[in-house]
Amino acid sequence: MASPLLAETQSIVKQFEFTDDDVNKSVREFLRQMDEGLEKDGTSLSQIPTYVTGVPTGKEKGLYMAVDLGGTNFRVCSVKLNGDTTFNITSDKVAVPKELMVAKKAEDLFAFLAQQIKKFLEKHHGDHFEAHIRRRMTVSSPDGYKDEHVFRMGFTFSFPVQQVGINKGTLIRWTKGFDIPDAVGKDVCALLQTEIDKLHLPVKVAALVNDTVGTLMAHSYSSPGSQGSILGAIFGTGTNGAYLEKLSNLKKPLVGEYDTSTGDMVINTEWGSFDNQLNVLPNTPWDAALDKETPNPGFQMYEKRVSGMFLGELLRLVINDLMKKPDVSLFRDENSSTNDRRSTTDIAETSGIWKAWGVDTSILSHAAGDHTPKLSVLRETLQETLQISAPAFEDAQAFKAIAEAIGRRAARLAAVAIGAVVLKSGRLADPERADDTVNVGVDGSLVENYPYFEDMIYEALRAIEGIGEEGAKRIRIGLAQDGSGVGAALIALVAAGAEKNAPTEEILSELRQEARATAATAAVSDESDQVGATHSA
Ligand code: BGC
Repeated sequence: MASPLLAETQSIVKQFEFTDDDVNKSVREFLRQMDEGLEKDGTSLSQIPTYVTGVPTGKEKGLYMAVDLGGTNFRVCSVKLNGDTTFNITSDKVAVPKELMVAKKAEDLFAFLAQQIKKFLEKHHGDHFEAHIRRRMTVSSPDGYKDEHVFRMGFTFSFPVQQVGINKGTLIRWTKGFDIPDAVGKDVCALLQTEIDKLHLPVKVAALVNDTVGTLMAHSYSSPGSQGSILGAIFGTGTNGAYLEKLSNLKKPLVGEYDTSTGDMVINTEWGSFDNQLNVLPNTPWDAALDKETPNPGFQMYEKRVSGMFLGELLRLVINDLMKKPDVSLFRDENSSTNDRRSTTDIAETSGIWKAWGVDTSILSHAAGDHTPKLSVLRETLQETLQISAPAFEDAQAFKAIAEAIGRRAARLAAVAIGAVVLKSGRLADPERADDTVNVGVDGSLVENYPYFEDMIYEALRAIEGIGEEGAKRIRIGLAQDGSGVGAALIALVAAGAEKNAPTEEILSELRQEARATAATAAVSDESDQVGATHSA
């Protein structure tokens, strides 16, 4: 088809090409920005110290809670670590109401989260919860509060946070469509603990966890040993990675206390903001247009080219531009004679194609996965999800080519981050570990659902200087199981172990005081009940 549609499509696809040279140049810049972030604050790649100083051995045991706020859903779970690399998890999930994502006050969102924790405890840990209520109401035993009665909870909060301790950190900025200015600069653990305390729940926020850190921990728990994971990465609604760095490379000052015995610390790179200054990132007109539509223009520039929240919108912007070109016929035919379905293409007014953020990224997966001769699966999907009726074969071909170009660029950019962290770990070049596998734990809807995403990452990894064919063979990218659940629980466990008596004592003494107060009130009301009883007799 030597049509204007084909010519335009080819030109667009070309603009989304990200060559091997581009990959290598970007890896070098990524390494530079990683080092810069280890030296000072306020850099593009934040390189946030997490105060987590080791990865698990697989032998960890106990019952912990974990909650996860990271995108569209809030999840509450309890995790039983069995101590043999396995675990059992119970969890509930609710959608975060849209209005709370942009609430006026931080309290509105965090009160909602605490309510969900309460519901979860009532539903799944009724005994523990009721015993707690009983203890609170028991006149005689305010001292009965024992440390083990309080659930330790890992709080997976997947936004950029300046951590100052294992369970303390201030929100730097919101991402992924959240926007509650009131919360910026505040300690998110304290915000949640305050709301939990208002409901008198037996829960202590013991650890603040980024989802990538959880992913790294979860992957290390289930594949421990000398081959343990070097990186936990998310390619989902957003993107980010956490890796183990030598403390001696961490030049910027650390304010909080931490264990120095391992000589390492997990760093949350916040690579979503890699190269906000666009030194090496590609920048098509559609990337620029998309950035302007977001609440955080100029930030998360890497994420906006890689992650699920944005790829659908990027595709929508390209398709809209293409439809506007007078000589190009896309999703538009004069009459049925030019349509292989014998009916005329029509796009409903309500179609998501006309609305900002109206195209879900999952359509890129449908496009990439359709290998039917007439692209019937994709055409069906266009009809069902975007109300484009009777799309012609050529339309679907163009749509598929553009969607694949966007997806392929995203995967090659993903390889830049993974490749850079692998190189930084020095594992491939270490002669003593020449036979070791280099494990990378990944999670997120893109790696899980986008066809060939991982293959395209490997293709780019092979092209990276210092990795090559041989190095790429040693890198094992594996899906991490439930980082935000089991990973967060593991960090809560580590944090609980490291807890000085003081903070725990503080909580317990508050609970005891409260019990004393309740006891006093109960005693008074008992007396009045008796009076009442006498009267009615
Ligand atoms: C956030 C990160 C998070 C990533 C993946 C990004 O938008 O800034 O903290 O790890 O999304 O969820």
